[in-house]
Amino acid sequence: MRILVLGGAGYIGSHTVYELIDEGYEVVIVDNLQTGFRKAVHPEAVFYEGDIRNRKFMDSVFEKEHIDGVIHFAASSQVGESMRDPLKYYSNNLCGTEVLLESMVAHHVDKIVFSSTAATYGEPENIPIVETDRTLPTNCYGETKLSMEKMFHWTSLAHPLRFVSLRYFNACGAHPNGKIGEAHNPETHLIPLILQVPNNQREYISIFGNDYDTKDGTCVRDYIHVNDLAQAHILAMKYLCDGGESSIFNLGNGVGFTVKEVVEAARRVTKHPIPAKEEERRAGDPSTLIASSEKAKRVLGWKPQYAELETIIDTAWKWHKAHPDGYQAE
Ligand code: UFG
Repeated sequence: MRILVLGGAGYIGSHTVYELIDEGYEVVIVDNLQTGFRKAVHPEAVFYEGDIRNRKFMDSVFEKEHIDGVIHFAASSQVGESMRDPLKYYSNNLCGTEVLLESMVAHHVDKIVFSSTAATYGEPENIPIVETDRTLPTNCYGETKLSMEKMFHWTSLAHPLRFVSLRYFNACGAHPNGKIGEAHNPETHLIPLILQVPNNQREYISIFGNDYDTKDGTCVRDYIHVNDLAQAHILAMKYLCDGGESSIFNLGNGVGFTVKEVVEAARRVTKHPIPAKEEERRAGDPSTLIASSEKAKRVLGWKPQYAELETIIDTAWKWHKAHPDGYQAE
């Protein structure tokens, strides 16, 4: 079976490609390398450098390769940037997906697994969050991801297309094989930023806000290992292949950790004191985000393997220690 992975040179995309190839799938990758890395591309995957907004290019890939299903990670994904440059998000995320769907429909490719986000919910009504809860994004990134979900929905009513949308909570960690990991430029995520301290790239970690209504005043998040996310994409593709109907699933561990708890766990893993400074809140951060992933467990048979925060941080630490500049210096 041949899977087209859009954004397969990015963080979650590259981990999914490694898992797909380990399980015997043939993989074709499309990535424009705007935020992905050539070095993150699995050596056994067929790689095309190009942009999903380019219809001719996408048509040529579907014509050359016999594609059975698509896994779609190709999108801009920084909350802060989406507020400064919303049109970039409309162009890359929405226009890109529109062109992709036109090309898929024209080439009779009828299955797509799509990377969505907890940011589609905005400020949650209930904890843990279930898939039927209100979706009211508080940033443009989440808004475009929600619109992409709706684009799949309406297209699936008009054409023979089925989709699975996976709403991830806080993706983190690195592949235990040590070959791939998280590398963003600029880095904005908590765990890689914390690990820059023991890696001698930063003097201290800033803790954004200490007056939230949580047990220690810092924000609570649901951290989920990237390999567990990768497995969920494969299960979702199998579900569609078995005739499953279009659906949306949350992906998280169902356990929340405060920012201070994450810093503490990183201190234990790295055996470094990791100084921290409490600063102002970061605009737009919800206080608590925890997923209910019962639906993914029940319907897809998903079982996260990395339940312990320290284990997750340990995989990240091994990657960052060995690759302090990500893929850039290699
Ligand atoms: N944080 C700090 N200091 C830092 C960086 C982050 O205290 O230097 C805090 C944040 O305020 C937040 C928590 O650590 O409370 C996690 O922040 P991240 O930036 O790592 O992740 P977010 O929860 O902001 O974002 C994640 C995904 C987004 C997604 C969002 C949904 O990365 O793609 O969840 O709300 F949109």
